[in-house]
Amino acid sequence: MCQTPNHCAYPAHIAAFSLTFTRMSASPVKVLFFSAKPYDIASFNQHNASYGFELEYLETHLGPHIVNAVDQGTFAVCVFVNDKLTTEVIAILAAKGAKVIALRCAGFNNVQLEAAKKYGITVCRVPAYSPEAVAEHAVAMLLTLVRKTHKAYNRVREQNFSLNGLLGFNLHGKTVGVIGTGRIGKAFCKIMLGFGCKVLAFDLFKDEEMVAAGVQYTTFDDVLRQADILSLHCPLTPDNRYLINQDSLGKMKQGATLINTSRGALIDTHAVIGALKTGRLANLGIDVYEQEERLFFKDLSGSIIEDDTIQRLLSFPNVLVTGHQAFFTEDALSQIAETTLASIHKLSKGLTPDDALIVQI
Ligand code: NAI
Repeated sequence: MCQTPNHCAYPAHIAAFSLTFTRMSASPVKVLFFSAKPYDIASFNQHNASYGFELEYLETHLGPHIVNAVDQGTFAVCVFVNDKLTTEVIAILAAKGAKVIALRCAGFNNVQLEAAKKYGITVCRVPAYSPEAVAEHAVAMLLTLVRKTHKAYNRVREQNFSLNGLLGFNLHGKTVGVIGTGRIGKAFCKIMLGFGCKVLAFDLFKDEEMVAAGVQYTTFDDVLRQADILSLHCPLTPDNRYLINQDSLGKMKQGATLINTSRGALIDTHAVIGALKTGRLANLGIDVYEQEERLFFKDLSGSIIEDDTIQRLLSFPNVLVTGHQAFFTEDALSQIAETTLASIHKLSKGLTPDDALIVQI
């Protein structure tokens, strides 16, 4: 393995190859980052010690308003979940000579893939960076809601040690419904099985490893009907927008708990607010929100938020919102930086990264 300080997870031959490439190349490969936060910069700079790319970071998200600022000759743009890779943006990137859109996340619903294909831009992503990070956050949200630790935390700080209003319920013996048993869904299922829950799942494909572990696959409607807790772990696609809507909420158990760490538009937020009002949903935990690009990853503590829907959600005592932080562990950030830079490195040398790292139409 590479012996470079601060970087120990990359095979030595690749690291050496990268350094040679940097020394021989007149102009280093340029990568322009959008939506860059201090933790992205720290992590990517650390891992770039083995690659020697020219990294430039912009705090703004990528969209039509800024794409013209991309320098001619930028090899790759590195983007995150709320950057907007529309046809217009991609056409301009292509005109500037960009060859790669590197998503430093798993989801790619924010990229117009047809346009990328048309303009010959390769889209790569990080499909698996610690699925456990996201699964564990879903469990953290679930436990917070069912044991009301968010309320207890504030209450005890006010020297109020009363238990009134903090009554929870055991997860052991409950039925947990999981929609999507890919990498994250599987990690979530394993934790829930460990808690002694009955785990029902719906996916387009049955995973035999999960079946052997005790997960029971059934129809989407059956999961809705039986689950005390429903957790979403499928990607957002044109077919499953508002998967959780008034109709599907109507099929759920009275007093169910819904957790969404996947993508905001999987749930119709207005329908969910209605279900919270009637008690159909007893708890809601969301790490993603359909209008999140205007809010998340920003400090708006001194601002007036005009989004009345998120304000309504925040007013419920049984709703927990986190700002797309499920992925946010040291382990995951390190893996994201390493995988992204390794893919860009391969593509810059005319090599093809593993299939799983390339987004195909
Ligand atoms: P994956 O690709 O490994 O698994 C997705 C699974 O969903 C697959 O088994 C697929 O067959 C299934 N699926 C697709 N459409 C479905 C549908 N309509 N109904 C039921 N199942 C369906 O993806 P992975 O890594 O498990 O990630 C899942 C999602 O989690 C990502 O697409 C992303 O939106 C979200 N995510 C959220 C993060 C966060 O920080 N909140 C971080 C990373 C991912």
